[in-house]
Amino acid sequence: MIVCGIESSCDECAVALVEDGTTILGQVVATQTEFHAPFQGVVPEIASRKHTEWILPVYRQALEHAHIDNSQIDAIAVTVEPGLAGSLLVGLSFAKALALTLGVPFVGINHILAHLYAPRFEGPLVYPFLGLLVSGGHTIIARVDDPFDIEILGTTIDDACGEAFDKVAKHLDLGYPGGVVIDRLAADGDDEAFAFPIAPLSSERHRYDVSYSGLKTAVVYQLERFHVRGAVDDMANVAASFQRAAIEMLLGRLFQAVADTGIGRVVVGGGVAANSYLRRRLGEAPQIEARMPAPSLCTDNAAMVAGLGYVALERGITSPLTINASSRVPGFRRPYA
Ligand code: KG4
Ligand code: ZN
Repeated sequence: MIVCGIESSCDECAVALVEDGTTILGQVVATQTEFHAPFQGVVPEIASRKHTEWILPVYRQALEHAHIDNSQIDAIAVTVEPGLAGSLLVGLSFAKALALTLGVPFVGINHILAHLYAPRFEGPLVYPFLGLLVSGGHTIIARVDDPFDIEILGTTIDDACGEAFDKVAKHLDLGYPGGVVIDRLAADGDDEAFAFPIAPLSSERHRYDVSYSGLKTAVVYQLERFHVRGAVDDMANVAASFQRAAIEMLLGRLFQAVADTGIGRVVVGGGVAANSYLRRRLGEAPQIEARMPAPSLCTDNAAMVAGLGYVALERGITSPLTINASSRVPGFRRPYA
């Protein structure tokens, strides 16, 4: 079965053709980064307008890459939640029109569940596992029992992990998106040069949650002190110390979840999953069997949407063409940021 997946929840406009949920026949991921960079963050209106311009050419190019035509598509899967409402609606409306025109089944997909399915393209997933999903929009530690059954254990109470990297990069004047630049700069720095705060949140309710606002403020104060003394060349030390603190905060919560659940299998996803410090630490952790997919499967793409769509359709799950988009998902046990 060939499923056409469509993803437009944030600033990636993506279409993929996937066979039987496991083989990517062709895909295109068109990123809007350059249009948001001047604003140092994703501007929702720009994102929806770009999706409106790009969705049809991206779809046509994905068909070309897959060497198939319209008539070979068996079903349409599209991200319906969570994400930027305007952006989601562009992909969703396009997907509905396509399903109607082609007369094929249609299914709406949750973006978080799709991320947690993405590593399936590199080999079978063994359930249950703990999912660590960290990007510019999400910071999630979840117990995953099945592609459609997850429990959010922890999240952030303020900024998303990638957002913290982006904001610190902004203060360091490193450009946008900042995660990859901080990662590179940190390689030349001493990650113990500054003791930035990584104290766990105190109450039991936040057992697996993180908070980045205190860390971000500490880094900004440190930078201001540097500027006063004119010692700005120590940026690599600041980057390395921040990176260590940001990732250790996350790992502390994750390791707690591993200890509490007895589940050592960990699957990572999201843009921050490309972080070299995170990958090294997870690779070394003795109690963890980490699945760290290629960065192209960690970041937003439509193959994961098509793949999970296939699983849904195999289980007889479809969506009505009246389905709407949601920017947040009230259905999960915990809210997430
Ligand atoms: O998944 P993604 O491409 O887009 C969404 O946010 O949905 O993630 C982008 C985020 C940005 O915040 C970026 O700074 C961060 O992932 N990122 C990194 C690295 N590469 C990307 N953060 C830390 N280290 C990296 N190597
Ligand atoms: Zn995402």
